[in-house]
This record gives sequence, C-alpha cells and structure tokens, in this order.
Amino acid sequence: MTDFFLREVTNEDVRLLWEWRNDSLVRETAFDQEFISWKSHACWFDRKLSSVDCRIWILQDDGFPVGQVRYDRGGEIAELTYSVSKEFRGRGLGTVLLQMSTPLACKELDVAILVAFVKQGNLPSMRALKRSGFERMKVINRNNEQCWKFQKSCESCNQIFTS
Ligand SMILES: CC(C)(COP(=O)(O)OP(=O)(O)OC[C@H]1O[C@@H](n2cnc3c(N)ncnc32)[C@H](O)[C@@H]1OP(=O)(O)O)[C@@H](O)C(=O)NCCC(=O)NCCS
Repeated sequence: MTDFFLREVTNEDVRLLWEWRNDSLVRETAFDQEFISWKSHACWFDRKLSSVDCRIWILQDDGFPVGQVRYDRGGEIAELTYSVSKEFRGRGLGTVLLQMSTPLACKELDVAILVAFVKQGNLPSMRALKRSGFERMKVINRNNEQCWKFQKSCESCNQIFTS
C-alpha cells in the first residue's frame, strides 16, 4: 500500500530542489524560463528557508521524495508553486501534493486565500488544482505570458475532495 508523507524541506534538500527547479518541463511552465545556476539557487534557497513568509514541503512516497510544493505569503494570500519529479508524473501525485499541503499552508501561514498562476496549456497543473478544490478565476498577464489565476479559500480546505 502506498504511504504518503509530507515533510518540511531541510538544508539537505538544497541539491534535490536545484535539480527539480532545472527540470525542462518545470522551466517551461515557469514564468522565468532561464536555467538556474547553483550559486543563485543556493542563495535563493537559504532565503526561502529562513523566511517566515515561506513554507516548502516535500512529498515522500514510501519514503522516497517525489515532489515539492512552495507557498509564499503576501498579506492574507499565499501563492503556491509545485512540481512532481519527472519519473513520477501522471500518477496522481501532483493532486496528492496539493490536497495534503493546502490545509497545512492555510494553518501555518495563517492566510485566507491560496492562489496559483498557471500558464495556459499546462493542463496537468490545471486539472490537479481543480481536483484539489481550486477555482479557475480569470486570465491575467504575467511576465508577458497569459496565465490562469486559480484560487481556493482556506475556509474550504477541510472539505472532502471529489472529482
Ligand atoms: C503539474 C504537475 C505537478 C502535475 O503533477 P502530476 O503528478 O503529473 O499530476 P497528476 O498525475 O495528479 O494529474 C493531474 C491531472 O492532470 C492529468 N494529466 C496528467 N498528465 C497529463 C498530460 N500530459 N496531459 C493532460 N492531462 C494530464 C491527469 O489525468 C489528472 O487529471 P484528472 O485528475 O482529471 O484525471 C507535474 O506535471 C509537473 O511537475 N509539471 C511541471 C511543473 C509544473 O507545471 N508545475 C505547476 C506550475 S503552476
């Protein structure tokens, strides 16, 4: 039986996250598509780990790290970004990652709303968000890219998830 566990990121994950951030699909779906150098990643990672406005969790599947989700708080809102390791995509893990982490993010960051911005065409992400209770709000322009804003209220985070 599959055993999922969400754990907080630690300093030891710095390299794993660098590899995941530079995965080709992750760069393609991000708003800044440039390769991320080790030096810039290491500084960014230190900053994120010490920030009170940020939480990063790693999804473990039978003890193995398979994906990550990050929430950045700005006021009452936290913006999320997430990815699943390439060998594990398409097995429902992105959805598990969102469903397990959203209540935690609401609680730990004490925000009212979670948002995600998804480039048009990123179907797997849109479907995972929808299945996890996010609502598709509107198309906006970000870094000269058209993307969908998805939103979920923290009040709804304890609902049972269905299709
Ligand atoms: C987005 C991402 C995290 C989704 O993770 P995943 O584990 O592959 O997603 P799931 O297996 O939970 O699938 C989610 C939905 O997308 C569908 N899906 C999966 N792969 C698909 C594909 N290639 N084309 C269309 N739909 C797809 C699944 O059928 C599922 O929909 P359903 O529940 O309605 O059947 C993963 O694709 C990824 O890491 N992408 C690169 C980074 C990224 O895009 N991050 C999000 C930025 S907003």
